[in-house]
Amino acid sequence: MSSPYAVELKEVTKRYNEIVAVNNMNLTINTGEIFALLGPNGSGKSTTLKMLLGLVQPTAGSINVLGIDVQKDPVAVKRQVGYVPESPNIYEFLTGIEYLDFIADIYGVPPAEKQQRITEYLKALQLEGREGDMINSYSDGMKKKISLISAFLHKPKLLILDEPINALDPRSAKIVKDLLQELKMQGVTTILSTHVLEIAEALCDRIGIMYQGSILALGTMNELRSRASLPNSGLEDIFLKLTGTGDLRAVVEELLR
Ligand SMILES: Nc1ncnc2c1ncn2[C@@H]1O[C@H](COP(=O)(O)OP(=O)(O)O)[C@@H](O)[C@H]1O
Ligand SMILES: [Mg+2]
Repeated sequence: MSSPYAVELKEVTKRYNEIVAVNNMNLTINTGEIFALLGPNGSGKSTTLKMLLGLVQPTAGSINVLGIDVQKDPVAVKRQVGYVPESPNIYEFLTGIEYLDFIADIYGVPPAEKQQRITEYLKALQLEGREGDMINSYSDGMKKKISLISAFLHKPKLLILDEPINALDPRSAKIVKDLLQELKMQGVTTILSTHVLEIAEALCDRIGIMYQGSILALGTMNELRSRASLPNSGLEDIFLKLTGTGDLRAVVEELLR
């Protein structure tokens, strides 16, 4: 089953017992697009991303990634994708450099390129000098950076990044955003999740607003604005309106009482 899209979900549902994490989702993402799944905690973003990699099996529906049916050949998908999980579960008793070496070898990156790319990324993300330390001595942000580098090393066609930027300091966040824009120019597709509105608004071509397992609205910033009938507003207003959580003042007042 081939597909003209980088990613195509058809009527995808994921249930965990009585919890419906993803509810009958249809979604297509174009090649070279930077796409954000934006939604509050528990809206089904991570579950969706894991299904794209075959790490979680859908209860119903079909998923095609880079022309491959994920359920039929998850290994072929993983080979061409760079994935950053929400909480990187990386080998804590390796040093940063050992881990990156190991990942590059798994993906068959040629040795000369491997050294060069690792060195450049460590420098860009300001991990130079710490690469010889064990990963269990790193901060969460540093672990996220190692996880990001490991996703870029084999030059994947598709990046699947689960909350890639919020843990980073502003400089590193900017570098990662610029890098994703550069890769887009080379035809790389990125799908990322975030609950940070500014990241979606500044970086992404299209945004899908997720709430309780469904995509409530999907489009460019301008399309979302007109959909929410809020012409001059930012994503925060649109988001609060679409998710029906606009009247937050009452909640805050209740908390302060
Ligand atoms: N392994 C799991 N077992 C049971 N429930 C899960 C599991 N993973 C996620 N869920 C539930 O599915 C829903 C969506 O979770 P998740 O995809 O992690 O959302 P998000 O990434 O948007 O915060 C939540 O209600 C969560 O509790
Ligand atoms: Mg998540």
